[in-house]
Amino acid sequence: MKDTELVGVQKTLSPVLRAKALDNRLPDPILGDEYAEQAMRRLDPDYDNRRFGTSQIGLAAVVRAKAHDDWARSFLADHPDAVVLHLGCGLDARVYRIDPPATVDWYDLDYPSVIELRQQLLPPREHYTLIDSSVTDLTWLERIPRARPVLMIAEGLVPYLTETDVRRLLTSVVDAFPTGQIQLDTVPVWAWRTSKWDPTLRKYDAQFHCGFNDPAALADWHPRLEYVDETPMNDSPVLMAKAPANIRRMYRLMNLLPGMKRSTRIVRFRF
Ligand SMILES: C[S@@+](CC[C@H](N)C(=O)[O-])C[C@H]1O[C@@H](n2cnc3c(N)ncnc32)[C@H](O)[C@@H]1O
Repeated sequence: MKDTELVGVQKTLSPVLRAKALDNRLPDPILGDEYAEQAMRRLDPDYDNRRFGTSQIGLAAVVRAKAHDDWARSFLADHPDAVVLHLGCGLDARVYRIDPPATVDWYDLDYPSVIELRQQLLPPREHYTLIDSSVTDLTWLERIPRARPVLMIAEGLVPYLTETDVRRLLTSVVDAFPTGQIQLDTVPVWAWRTSKWDPTLRKYDAQFHCGFNDPAALADWHPRLEYVDETPMNDSPVLMAKAPANIRRMYRLMNLLPGMKRSTRIVRFRF
């Protein structure tokens, strides 16, 4: 399996992986993900010789990954017996970055071809299971142990699903577990509606299928679900502190437009 054999939305894992690998080249990285760098080297033997402009790094995606990591670490510190559902995992190395204790059971889920590629690039570990399924075929949920706290992470996934599928997913997870945290990111309605013209998405034959102007309102879908908070991405303090000066300037300019400043919303729910 090669990354060139991925199709449609599966290909969207590549720019995110590259962003994480390039972040690791910075003198003071935001995420510091050596697994991403190693995976890039395996996928592209010339990777180390390639020069990328700093503006090509895509640091906002790295900030998003760090935000999800920070929330996940804090939940797992309070719930060392948790089950983690990392949905639409792509080639993200979160389980290795976080390195949870053996009391946590971690599930990484993505399409079969992505999981096949993952198996070639990332090592197995104890208490860690790969699920090769579409997230929308909810029969995968039957394989997960219940009666334990759950941490559901959907990074860069929700916009590629329909609202109906997101709703079914969230309500099924809440129904299946006694307690838990759901962390995900969404795009606003304008970004969804214009996504078929987005040059990056077009390059990967992908488009968004849902958008939310008020992602906190997803909590209304289930009586046990509560919105907790949101964490910034394009104007995050870590981006402003660590990004190279030209990238900081680019984001400051972009953030003058409120729509761009909140072009991705990273939100957390509990139940
Ligand atoms: C933008 S990438 C993000 C990958 C990873 N979460 C990260 O941040 O590096 C989107 C991922 O969602 C996966 N995906 C999209 N729709 C999916 C579905 N219906 N079922 C399973 N995975 C899906 C894609 O295959 C891809 O790996």
